[in-house]
Amino acid sequence: MTHAKNRPSIVPVGTLPELGVVPEKMHAFVIRPERFGEPTKSFQHEEMPVWELGPDEVLVQVMAAGVNYNGIWAGLGKPVNILKGHGLDFHIAGSDAAGVVWQVGSAVRGWKVGDEVVLHCNHLIEPGASEDQTIWGYETPDGSFAQFTRVQAQQLLPKAPELTWEAAASYGLTYYTAHRMLIDRAELQPGEDVLIWGAGGGLGVFAVQLCKVAGARAIAVVSSDEKAELAMELGAHGVINRKDFPKLQYKDGMSADETKAHQADIKAFGKRIWELLGERKGPDVVFEHVGRATFPASVFLANKFGRIVICGATTGFDLTFDVRHLWMRQKRIIGSHFADADSAGRANRLVLQGKVHPVLTRMFTWDEIPHAHQLMYENKLHGTVSCLVGAPKPGLKNLEETRAAIAAG
Ligand SMILES: NC(=O)c1ccc[n+]([C@@H]2O[C@H](COP(=O)([O-])OP(=O)(O)OC[C@H]3O[C@@H](n4cnc5c(N)ncnc54)[C@H](OP(=O)(O)O)[C@@H]3O)[C@@H](O)[C@H]2O)c1
Repeated sequence: MTHAKNRPSIVPVGTLPELGVVPEKMHAFVIRPERFGEPTKSFQHEEMPVWELGPDEVLVQVMAAGVNYNGIWAGLGKPVNILKGHGLDFHIAGSDAAGVVWQVGSAVRGWKVGDEVVLHCNHLIEPGASEDQTIWGYETPDGSFAQFTRVQAQQLLPKAPELTWEAAASYGLTYYTAHRMLIDRAELQPGEDVLIWGAGGGLGVFAVQLCKVAGARAIAVVSSDEKAELAMELGAHGVINRKDFPKLQYKDGMSADETKAHQADIKAFGKRIWELLGERKGPDVVFEHVGRATFPASVFLANKFGRIVICGATTGFDLTFDVRHLWMRQKRIIGSHFADADSAGRANRLVLQGKVHPVLTRMFTWDEIPHAHQLMYENKLHGTVSCLVGAPKPGLKNLEETRAAIAAG
C-alpha cells in the first residue's frame, strides 16, 4: 500500500481531503473495555490512525453511517466482549454506511477510487477461500462511525444516485436480512400471504415492501397508529394492532386461566387475519424475529404447509410452542441470518430500480452518534436511523454536491 506523499495529519469532520489522499489519522467514535456501558459512556471521540489495507481491501470515506443494535452490544461488552474476538484493545462500531471509495488494495478489481457505494456487512474470514463469516463493524474493529472505514471489496455495492447519503446509509443491515428471509430462505411466491411481526420496525418496513414487489399480501402487525399508517403507506394489505390482543403474548408461568385466555386471543387474532384476507386461511409465511412472546402464535397461525422464517428473538430465544400444530399441518421452521454478497446484491438492485425505498425515520449529526445509540438502547426510535459522518449537511447525494457544500461553508 502506498499513501500520497502530501498526506495531511488529519482533516476536520465535515470536510474532505483530496480524492484518494489518505490522512494519517481520522476522527472516530471508539469503544474501549475500560468504558463498557451504555452508549453515551462507551462511544467516545478519539483521533485514530487510518487503517492500512490488505490486497482485497478498500478504504471508504464514510459520508453517513446507519445505526443498529450491534454498536450497543459492542459498547455494553455484553453478552460477549467482542474485542476478545478480534483481539484489539479498541473497537470502532458501525455495520452500515454510504460513502466514496478512497483507496483500493492491490488485488481489488472492478472498483476504483471515486466510486460511490453502500456496504453490506457480511465479512468473510478468508475471502474466496472460506464460508466462515463475521459481521463487519461488530466482529471486526473497523466499522463506520469514523471518517474512514476498511472493508473487503466484496462488501461494496453501488449507491443509488437519487438517494441522499443519509438515506443510502440507513437500510443495508435490516433490508438485506429481510430480503434473505423472505426471498431466499422462505422462497416467497406471488399470490402468497405473509404475516409480518414488527412491521413498523427496522426489518418489518422492508418485509412489507418486499411482499408488494413479490406480488404477495402483507398482513402487518404493529403496536401504534403511527406504525399502522406507515405499514399501509409501504403497501401492506392490512394491519393489525397487537394491543387489541393483549393475551396473545406468551409469558412464563401462565396459570390455566391465563393459558386459556392466551389461546383464545391467538384464535381471535387468526380470525382477524381471515377477515383481512377475505378467506379462511392463515398466512403462508410468518416473518418472525420477536421470538418467545409470539412464536407459539406464529406456529399456530401459519397455514397448512406454511413456513415460519426466523432471524432473531428480541423477547427471548428459548422458544415454547405446541409442536402438534407443526407436524399435523406439515409446517416448516426456517432459520435465516443476515445475507451473503450475492443476496445483498440482488436486494440492492431493487433499491437501484426504485422498487424498494429506505425508510429513514430520523437523522443525527456526527456529534450525536453516542446519543443516537442511547435512544435506540432506550427503545425510543423506530424504523431506521443514520448519522452524518463526512457529509457536512443532510440532502447531499454525491461527491460533487458534497464538495460544493463544503466549499460554500
Ligand atoms: N440474524 C440477523 O441477521 C438479524 C439482522 C437484523 C436484525 N436481527 C434481529 O431481529 C430483531 C428485530 O430487529 P429490528 O431491527 O427489526 O428491530 P426494531 O426496529 O426494534 O423492530 C422490532 C419490532 O418488533 C416489535 N416487537 C417488539 N416486542 C414485541 C412483542 N413483545 N410482540 C410483538 N412484537 C414486538 C416492535 O413492533 P411493534 O411494537 O410495533 O409491534 C418493533 O418495532 C432483533 O432481535 C435483531 O437483533 C437479526
